[in-house]
This record gives sequence, structure tokens and C-alpha cells, in this order.
Amino acid sequence: MTRGAARLEPASEEAIEKGARLLREGGLVAFPTETVYGLGADAASAAAVAKIYAAKGRPSFNPLIAHVADLDAARREAELPAAALRLAEAFWPGPLTLVAPRAAGGSVCEAARAGLASVALRVPSAPVARALILAAGRPIAAPSANRSGHVSPVTARHVLEDLGERVDLVIDGGRADKGVESTIVSVLGERPRLLRPGALTREALEEILRAPLEAGEGGAGEGGAAAIVAPGMTASHYAPRARLRLEADELRLGEAGLDFGGCFGAREGRGPILDLSPAADLEEAAANLFLYLRELDARGAALVAVAPIPARGLGEAINDRLRRAAAPK
Ligand code: TXA
Ligand code: MG
Repeated sequence: MTRGAARLEPASEEAIEKGARLLREGGLVAFPTETVYGLGADAASAAAVAKIYAAKGRPSFNPLIAHVADLDAARREAELPAAALRLAEAFWPGPLTLVAPRAAGGSVCEAARAGLASVALRVPSAPVARALILAAGRPIAAPSANRSGHVSPVTARHVLEDLGERVDLVIDGGRADKGVESTIVSVLGERPRLLRPGALTREALEEILRAPLEAGEGGAGEGGAAAIVAPGMTASHYAPRARLRLEADELRLGEAGLDFGGCFGAREGRGPILDLSPAADLEEAAANLFLYLRELDARGAALVAVAPIPARGLGEAINDRLRRAAAPK
């Protein structure tokens, strides 16, 4: 494997073959999923997984999601209780991650699990991700392909901006269409718990479970117990350089705007305004969220007023990411 400048290749059969070979050799390959770009390594290899932690500057106590090809592969890695199987059947492939007890003989290494007895599993639906997992022929550990604590990448260019030559190959599959990460549900306890709101809505999950989802211990992201249950859900995360002022109903002097549904209107003499969704569509807003946070940074915005986003549906994940992006660093 060569070191040096990361190679960016458009998604193609050859790029996927090359990516799979690099993964089998212990390299790092960034690839698009339907949620955000992932930074992949062979989930069974402690040495390969160590490169993920090093490239991201990620603390080694924060476990990774293993990406698998299908439910059968997931069942080789984890003991999936009935509720997990119902969710998997309804939503895999797709933006759902299940945290379950690891199976005896599972291949996901201890470093990828950060030493936990549980394992996080997801079957992505994006064709490039699926093809890469199949070609590699093994589970792929992949966090979002950003520097630890930064905004998640939704384009190949974002990956290069954050990780550059720390990656052996970036497969460019265009924009990740959902734009926020997978929803993480723990099935470790008696009832399923929502550890991280994400691209799959609570409403959709609860419809299948026919019961309300329990909250992640301590409230995801408020530190405390959540810091143990989902170690990555620290208060400050997804952070742009700009300071965000949430639930703003107007722009103050000197502020740039992250709008929703045209609430700020156009104002002379104010900073740039990017509207997550002029039509107030939450799917569109989720897809634009990380892109626009990076764009506002690129335009040098220091203070950003963020319009209120409804809490329903994808709004839960959007508001979660915005709160973390606004938290003191
Ligand atoms: O959409 C996504 O989920 C993307 C794409 C690439 O698949 N991945 C992603 O990974 O967002 P990452 O590493 O940025 O976030 C994974 C989260 C972290 O907060 C981590 O703490 C949590 O999953 N996690 C992983 N394994 C866990 C486990 N065994 N128990 C509790 N939380 C776990
Ligand atoms: Mg991440």
C-alpha cells in the first residue's frame, strides 16, 4: 500500500475492487453510504481499526459501527433478540444501527468495539457501500469520515478536506442523500432504546415496535450515563468553527443565517443566509444540514443564527446535531 496523497476515484467496478483489496490488506477506504461518508477498515483487524482511530483523532474508548452485507452476516456478529429482528426486517438495508450483545465467534475485533461486550451493526442501502462490503467479503468498521468532533462529511471533497492523505482511497459516489447519520437503537436491555436519533425517524421505529422507544440512558449527549452507553455522543460534536445561536427568529447584526422555511427573509447588509429548506421540508433540511454548516465556515461566518426546526420526524435528528454543533467546545 502506498502512502502519500489520498486517491479520489469515482465509483466504478474497478474502484470498488481496488477499495475491497485495500480493505483486505488493512488499509483505510472512505466510501459513500446513504447517510454520510464512512471511513472503512477491516472490522476484524485490530491493526486496521487502529488506523481509523489515528486518522480521525478519535478516542479509542468510542466504539465503531460494523457494516455488514445482510441480516445473516449481522447474526454471525450479534445475538439479535426478537425486537431487533423485527426492526432489521423492516429497515435493513437502511439507516438503522442496532447495538446488541456480540455473538460468540463474531469477527468484529475488540478494538472496533472499544472493549465492549456489545457490537453496533448496520446494513447500509447505498449501492456503493453494499458492493464494497460484498467485494471485501467481511464486516467493515466505519465511523463517519471526518476528524473527530467535526461536521460529518456528505461529499468526497469533505472527506479529503478532513482526512486528506490519511486515507488510502476515497470512493466518490456523489452526495450522501440523507445527510444525517443512522439512527442507533440499543437492544441490550428489556426494551429497545434510542441511543442516537438519525435518518430513520422515531415514528417509523415505533410503528414497527408498536411501543414508544425508551430514551437513551441519561438523555443522549448530556454526558453522564449516556457517555458510557454511547461514548461518541459527547455534548460537543458535529462542530463547525462558527458559533451557532439556535431557535433564532431573526438575524442580528453581523450574523450569518441558517434558515428553515424562509423564516429570516432576505435582508440587506446581513451575512450570508442559507436556507436548509425553503419549502420547510425536513428531509431536504437533513440532506443540506452538514453541507451548509461547512459552507458557512468556508464563507468565514463567525456567528450563525439558526431558525427553529420542528421537533417531529427528522427534526429530532436535525435538532440533536444542531445542539451538539452549538455546544461550547
Ligand atoms: O450513518 C452512520 O451511522 C455513519 C455511516 C458511516 O454508517 N456512521 C457513523 O459512525 O455515524 P460514528 O462512529 O460517527 O458514530 C457511531 C456511534 C458513536 O456515537 C458510537 O459511540 C456509537 O455509535 N456506538 C458504536 N458501538 C456502540 C456500542 N457497542 N454501544 C453503544 N454505542 C455504540
Ligand atoms: Mg461521527
